[in-house]
Amino acid sequence: MRKTGIFAGVSLAVIAGVVTYFSGTHVSKAADIDAKKLYMTHCKTCHGEDGHPTDLGLGLGAREFADAEWQAQTTDEKIIKQINDGTPEKMMPFKEKLTQDEIKALVSVIRGFGKK
Ligand code: HEC
Repeated sequence: MRKTGIFAGVSLAVIAGVVTYFSGTHVSKAADIDAKKLYMTHCKTCHGEDGHPTDLGLGLGAREFADAEWQAQTTDEKIIKQINDGTPEKMMPFKEKLTQDEIKALVSVIRGFGKK
């Protein structure tokens, strides 16, 4: 009897612990992604704070993201593909570094540069 009581008590504690653990776990939702910060961390070096390529970016052949013509003719799919795969010797691929949700969030940052 006593033994069962202790066992039940321990199980409850374990369950409570598991619940606390999972509710505390950070589940990355679109709303939690700070896309601008991701851009500043991973992209600014070449594409510049405002989408104007830096000297390094220009040297490698990066374009102006504010260019309305480019904004109009490119697609979100192309932007996503470029961030995933990069271009050999020009831009590194990000598919191993960022999640697909983060990459999608970056598309809106790049689209934002076209709206100025
Ligand atoms: C090492 C410098 C460098 C970094 C860092 C970099 N890029 Fe690039 N990016 C380039 C270059 C150079 C090109 C042009 C590639 C080409 O001509 O194929 C490019 C092209 C692009 C394009 C396609 C533009 C077009 O011509 O259609 C997009 C979109 C893009 N980058 C987004 C990003 C994002 C988002 C990040 C950060 C996650 C990033 N880049 C980080 C150098 C960089």
